[in-house]
Amino acid sequence: MRNITEHNITEAVIARFAGCDDSRLKEIMSSLVTHLHAFVRETRITEAEWAKGIEFLTATGHITDDKRQEFILLSDTLGVSMLTVAMNHTKPPAATEATVFGPFHVEGAPVFENGADISGGAPGEPLFVNCTVRGLDGEPIAGAIVDTWQADDDGFYDVQVAGLEQHRARGTLRTDEAGRFWFQSVLPVAYPIPTDGPVGAMLVATGRHPWRPAHVHFLIRAPGYETLTTHVFRAGDPYLDSDTVFGVRASLLAEFVPHAAEAGRGRHHTLDFGFVLAPQKG
Ligand code: BEZ
Ligand code: FE
Repeated sequence: MRNITEHNITEAVIARFAGCDDSRLKEIMSSLVTHLHAFVRETRITEAEWAKGIEFLTATGHITDDKRQEFILLSDTLGVSMLTVAMNHTKPPAATEATVFGPFHVEGAPVFENGADISGGAPGEPLFVNCTVRGLDGEPIAGAIVDTWQADDDGFYDVQVAGLEQHRARGTLRTDEAGRFWFQSVLPVAYPIPTDGPVGAMLVATGRHPWRPAHVHFLIRAPGYETLTTHVFRAGDPYLDSDTVFGVRASLLAEFVPHAAEAGRGRHHTLDFGFVLAPQKG
């Protein structure tokens, strides 16, 4: 085809994938081209606007490194991460819902015994977390591996604190025979996602705020069960209805109960939550 026009170029590009022998890749690339071209046509995008888009993606790549993942932020703030999670984790109603993974999980976080203080000196009021992990029939899941991570009272994850070498407010635990795990950390607060990069500029330009409601992350793995990536959100947080990454599910809200100073403990909060894992598919 030599006379490429505005009207036949989509067909021409898709025809070039004819020799692709990975049928799923061919389907994805053809659909991507179809929708991308439709977007360009619908918005009648100008060359200057397209150049700006390329500049934006270039900046997104340049700021990304092993500690900063701007593409995940972009996917999260455009709702693509949550759409992918929602589509790929349809679960029985009794199972705990999944939500976005986010960019702050770290492989190989320190391993703790149940009852340990995992805060590592992170600022914040003490929080005592008591959880269970069960299957759909209520059976306790012993030996499940639980990764947890969260922001501190300043609204930062340890990996965001310049010069901090040690892990804080994150760790790996294992459920006991009754499917329980428990630990001490700090009370999480609402925090803005990083705004010093292109995604932050996009939020400002489109009149959006960058805030996420207070939450604690959990990644729970157990043989025979679907891995659960989720958060527990603090009930009453002002950002529950406008989470900038669209991650809130009503079933994931819990009271972080305040307690006045009492024997041996200063002012603190407690969180109790029961996770239910769905059986592994297939
Ligand atoms: C988080 O919860 O850690 C997170 C999720 C999406 C974007 C930024 C942060
Ligand atoms: Fe988070």
